[in-house]
Amino acid sequence: MSQDIRNRLWIGNAWADAASGATFETINPATGETITTVAEGDAPDIDRAVDAARAALANPDWKAISPHKRAQLLWKLADAIEANVDELARLETQDNGKPFFESKYADLGLVVEVYRYFAGLADKVHGATIPVKGAFLNYTLREPVGVVGCITPWNFPLSMASWKVAPALAMGNAVVLKPAEQTPLTALRLGELAAEVGFPEGVLNVVPGFGQTAGAALVRHPGVDAIAFTGSTEVGKTVMRDAAETLKKVSLELGGKSPNVVFADADLKAAVKGATGGIFYGKGEVCAAGSRVLVERSIYDEFVDAFARSAERMVVGDPMDKGTRIGAIVSEKQLDRVMGYVEAGKAEGARLVTGGERTTVDGKGNFVTATVFADVDVDMKIAQEEIFGPVAAVIPFDDMDDAIKKANQTIYGLAAGVWTRDIGKAHRMAAEIKAGTVWVNTYNQYDAASPFGGFKQSGFGRDLGSESALEKYTQVKSVWVALDR
Ligand code: NAI
Ligand code: MG
Repeated sequence: MSQDIRNRLWIGNAWADAASGATFETINPATGETITTVAEGDAPDIDRAVDAARAALANPDWKAISPHKRAQLLWKLADAIEANVDELARLETQDNGKPFFESKYADLGLVVEVYRYFAGLADKVHGATIPVKGAFLNYTLREPVGVVGCITPWNFPLSMASWKVAPALAMGNAVVLKPAEQTPLTALRLGELAAEVGFPEGVLNVVPGFGQTAGAALVRHPGVDAIAFTGSTEVGKTVMRDAAETLKKVSLELGGKSPNVVFADADLKAAVKGATGGIFYGKGEVCAAGSRVLVERSIYDEFVDAFARSAERMVVGDPMDKGTRIGAIVSEKQLDRVMGYVEAGKAEGARLVTGGERTTVDGKGNFVTATVFADVDVDMKIAQEEIFGPVAAVIPFDDMDDAIKKANQTIYGLAAGVWTRDIGKAHRMAAEIKAGTVWVNTYNQYDAASPFGGFKQSGFGRDLGSESALEKYTQVKSVWVALDR
């Protein structure tokens, strides 16, 4: 157990134990070893954190700070994250099990970009003057929403936190962040770094704990004005119900069962590569994972062969090794869930082409080999439910209409991929697929400037991009001034 891993509650720029004194273990899924024991927040701790956040909103050091200075603080936080990138990436990998190079270059790379992007936005947001009837001056103010509760998942712990924290702080809010119980460590370090670069106390509070206790307390708290949530669709529904009691502003980034559609006229090599990364990147624990690979029938057999061979090259191994492509599944519970779906696929008559095996590395850890099911029917469980593991379901289609129908045949609508050399077909598919993101001849592209979020039961509200920051983290006030008295 390392001495310098932060493992207590971060409230008002100070470390604290949980009021109950309770702690929980966070485990490295690649070894099964306990990384550290973490203070377990619950309702009284959420109360304290919300009090600290409300005090920050009233504190002139935050309330009256110039937008320019807010931008500077966010930029400094980006610099601090960059300066500590190896430490943060190692923590992320230990907690989550993903390959170190993914943590360092993909996760942390985008995290730094996100703070810089929203730093740039901090001093460019303003209201308008509106020409109303009568002798009045009417203008709008864009004000912060207030205290934002952020609840984040375990698959991209620091990324998902930052996609919410950066715009919320840029717009002048105060935040209480409840990271996932499986992966609380990078969020705690983030709180400390924010204080080091000069964010006043209470502006960013981090309370690790479980969903039904700390998470639910945050959603129900009357002192919280908005909830920004990323996680499962099931819990998203609970969050929305619980938030209704106090009519909080809610945004939900939920699950997916994203189609990756390969037409016969595609560059086959590129499509195979894109389908492989689409589902196996991040062990398939990616909300936008291309878990349904739809393939035009005329190239179906050829594609399945090439895809299976490509899957077999996804090396399962120690997340700290350079050559590892698939790290450890985040928890034993999640591993059981994934294996349950492998069994369901076999039982429903899908053809297991490769993978589907639970394995260990050096006799330890939660690992699964890259799995490809072919001849999957759209109605099967493995084609309808989010597995959140390295399991692809390959489904044949006949023509464009059939592809559109099958692509949209789920309750989800988070993302989609289209592979074709026909530009008209590409744009028609982009228009017809009901999803928040469509990638054409590529997959899993993200940028701080481009909005990301769901259609249908994948949720609503967007992360990233300038519009979403305004929508989620500001509210508009209309001011009327009589000019004739
Ligand atoms: P989850 O939805 O329970 O966890 C996400 C976050 O919500 C965590 O911080 C958790 O503590 C919190 N939470 C749980 N119950 C809550 C409640 N009643 N009130 C407030 N907050 C609550 O996800 P879980 O159980 O870890 O994973 C189960 C499945 O969910 C996965 O297999 C996957 O299919 C899906 N999932 C999808 C994610 C996505 O990014 N779309 C992320 C995580 C999970
Ligand atoms: Mg863990």
